[in-house]
Amino acid sequence: MNPTLDAYNIDDLRRMAKKRLPRGIFEYVDRGAEDEVALRHNTEIYRSLKIKNRVLKDVSARTTETEIFGRKLAMPFGISPTASAGLVSEGGEVGLARAAARMGVVCTAATSALTSMEEIHEAGDENLWFQLYMWTDMDLTARFVERIKAAGYKTMLITVDGPVPSNREYNYRNGFAMPLRYSPRLIAQILANPGWCLRVLAPQYLKRGHFRKVNNPPELASKLTQIDVETSYTKPAAQNWDDVKRVRDMWPGNLLVKGLQSAEDAVIAADLGLQGVVLSNHGGRYLDSAPAPLEVVPEVRAAVGDRIKILIDSGARRGGDIVKAIALGADMVMSGRPTLYGSAVAGEAGSYRALDIFKSEMDRVMAQIGVNRIDELGPHIFWNPPAWVPVPSRN
Ligand SMILES: Cc1cc2nc3c(=O)[nH]c(=O)nc-3n(C[C@H](O)[C@H](O)[C@H](O)COP(=O)(O)O)c2cc1C
Repeated sequence: MNPTLDAYNIDDLRRMAKKRLPRGIFEYVDRGAEDEVALRHNTEIYRSLKIKNRVLKDVSARTTETEIFGRKLAMPFGISPTASAGLVSEGGEVGLARAAARMGVVCTAATSALTSMEEIHEAGDENLWFQLYMWTDMDLTARFVERIKAAGYKTMLITVDGPVPSNREYNYRNGFAMPLRYSPRLIAQILANPGWCLRVLAPQYLKRGHFRKVNNPPELASKLTQIDVETSYTKPAAQNWDDVKRVRDMWPGNLLVKGLQSAEDAVIAADLGLQGVVLSNHGGRYLDSAPAPLEVVPEVRAAVGDRIKILIDSGARRGGDIVKAIALGADMVMSGRPTLYGSAVAGEAGSYRALDIFKSEMDRVMAQIGVNRIDELGPHIFWNPPAWVPVPSRN
């Protein structure tokens, strides 16, 4: 197989994925919430920042490598948790974990994955993390955390940004709302895509049966045709920081919260003794008037200093975006859709291709701006930055 897959950037993978997926599934992966202002802004803000080229600096020894929680990474990058990889390629979550291990970056297995946390763990390496949605019943959460520990995970993110379900009007129109109903509209989309039926649907049913959130405890429904997001067990409006404290007390590994967008909340996380935060607007899938996480990195860094790791996701589509986020004070960048597009195109090889594109682009930009190591990145790389970019301390 041609390792480039004839895809030379993430947008190529996106266009190819669109052709290979039923419309409802592609839109579920690709789109945002309400008017999709946050979705568009997440990528536009990266593009709006200009960085200066620097010439005649020896960049022959450059490296994108870094470290997080004592583990080496090929670049400061991780795959965000996504519930749906099993819908875009058969056992897609396993392919994501393998691709990340091969590249040497973080991958995060999702509570709502369609493949079990144990099977995903076998496919990954020490940089495989777990994303927890706390169940409404905290005793169930306690038992679930025991299972995550037993599976071998050492780092966990608790996603906290969905106290109520999101407003995704297109899902009502395209028939892909939960609980999934095999309506004539959905069946027509599926039949219009026989390739997906052969590649994903048939092997799924033959090997694994119904599409299910297989990690759900046996007490809870797990089939996508049964789960009603309005009465979801994982997005209870009553959850609060005390619940996070309870999880912290039962989890011995690194613990981060994902979905924050303010310095106030990051300070609470640091005061609770967590190891980090993932600044995220869920890829523009929840609060449509949210700022891009990139814009809040500087104020969060100013508020928490070096007490915790600051990770960021939502909108990164180029290796240069990773350079920009790190220069603004992030420790690591994560991203959800790019590797899902890759997974839809060619399973593990497609997810790896997305990672490879990010890495080669990052490396090239570092050379162009005269930087050898990521700890040389800082606000001094920006040309004519907007007011929210910190003033550089060196030139
Ligand atoms: C299809 C899809 C499913 C997702 N499922 C989850 C999930 O189960 N848990 C979670 O914490 N975040 C989930 N997310 C959000 C991602 O973790 C991440 O925040 C987002 O994709 C980042 O934006 P980006 O795709 O622009 O990189 C999902 C995102 C997508 C696109």
